Amino acid sequence: MELRVVVDDITKIEVDALIVNLFEGVSQPGGATAAVDQALDGAIAQLIEAGEIKGKLGELALIHTLGKIPARRIVVAGLGKQSEFGLDTIRRVVGEACRFLRTKGAKKVATITHGTGAGGIEPEKSAQAIAEGGILGLYTFRKHITKKSETGEIEELLIVDRDESRLPQLERGCSMGKVMAEAANFARDMINEPANFMTPGDMAEVAKKLAAEYNLKCTVLDRGQMQELGMGALLGVAQGSRQEPKFIVLEYKGDSSSQKTLGLVGKGITFDSGGISIKSSEGMVDMKGDMAGAATIVATLRALVELKPKINVTALAPATENLPGGAALKPGDVLKAMSGKTIEVASTDAEGRLILADALSYAGKLGLSPLVDVATLTGACRIALGTVCSGAFTNNQELVDKVIKAGEKAGEHIWQMPMYEEYKEQNKSDVADIKNTGGRYGGAINAAQFLSTFVEDTPWVHLDIAGTSESDKEKGYIVKGATGVGVRTLANLALALAEE
Ligand code: BES
Ligand code: MN
Ligand code: ZN
Repeated sequence: MELRVVVDDITKIEVDALIVNLFEGVSQPGGATAAVDQALDGAIAQLIEAGEIKGKLGELALIHTLGKIPARRIVVAGLGKQSEFGLDTIRRVVGEACRFLRTKGAKKVATITHGTGAGGIEPEKSAQAIAEGGILGLYTFRKHITKKSETGEIEELLIVDRDESRLPQLERGCSMGKVMAEAANFARDMINEPANFMTPGDMAEVAKKLAAEYNLKCTVLDRGQMQELGMGALLGVAQGSRQEPKFIVLEYKGDSSSQKTLGLVGKGITFDSGGISIKSSEGMVDMKGDMAGAATIVATLRALVELKPKINVTALAPATENLPGGAALKPGDVLKAMSGKTIEVASTDAEGRLILADALSYAGKLGLSPLVDVATLTGACRIALGTVCSGAFTNNQELVDKVIKAGEKAGEHIWQMPMYEEYKEQNKSDVADIKNTGGRYGGAINAAQFLSTFVEDTPWVHLDIAGTSESDKEKGYIVKGATGVGVRTLANLALALAEE
């Protein structure tokens, strides 16, 4: 889909459909919507009067213009209550309106710059949210469906404003939104790919291709190199599978004058069967998406290399399958991690923290700081927080505050969980330095405590996206399957750190 900013009178533009809006409880439309209403001899006001249009969030009213204006249809999108209005409302409304119009066969769609009038939103931010809502909301993953889609695609989305002086801001916002949303969709593509099409080797190829395209540095460590580094925890997980593990290192250098490098670490389990501590078949269904953390950080680097902030960022993605092959880890086995610590494997299904332990040690060896890891780590986090927000865990309050703020900017909720020392007791082992599970209670915190022992003093945030990385329904700019959560948050974080 092509995305463009156009300076024009919205009532003069020739498109298949035009998206305007209405706040809940408003009886007379304002701004650009009012201009369209006038051109249609008050059709919108009449529908409001008749109670057919209420402006409720999620409401979409379709009006055929029958030659009164060049736009063939108007969609009046409800924005909900003005007091609750924000950028995420715009993303959501544009995503839903675009999907709706796709089912109507619209090819060329225009939208007004939502929120820039009564909503009090800067034009740049509005354009960014429109671009994100449109691109994210229209995302589909049809690679393996041979039948052609019944609905066509929206080919053009125009962001229309009649004030020429706003053009530079609108264009800046539009291109920023495009980069952010396309990076999130890039992550979605990787995550939605079935495990037989997204093995650790395939992930490494995706990273290498990205690096070649954008001039990033990419190094992929193989099993031998991992052995030399002493990554016994990661290799322990990998030994149950025939797929070769890969440790992907992707580097973005945006600030040659600085020695500091932000480290992003992502869990890359390309399929999690649970290993010998095997999952139930219901529990295994979504486990092709257990590499979402790795996809997130690779995609974040894609966004950064396009935005070019003045910062250095290195992404580390340990990638392996977790399968119960003949050589697999067994419950009770003891592994020696890269840090030198020994780990009792109480459950082979708590594999994410094992591969992340070595990845975090490697991040320490490379001197990366601060560190943010992203992982579909625990079912417990999904139980605790549901699918609405990701969990954050930290050893550094200042850093987590920045991560949460970056998330709010992206419309991605993040909730901080406690890290009291007492939780660590659950990880005590009788046979090794530490064990990889700590009972059923407080499982998400327990996993985070395990990780914290491998980061030592580096400022670090762990994001558990087990509840947020996939969606079972369409809502706003979220579609079924992978959400791409974390990409826009981490890109925002890097942009903010670059400004410091
Ligand atoms: N990949 C899973 C966590 C998960 C569960 C992600 C559901 C997304 C949806 C992880 O490797 C896992 O199996 N965790 C176990 C840990 C337990 C054995 C301590 C869990 O959450 O049950
Ligand atoms: Mn598991
Ligand atoms: Zn897992």
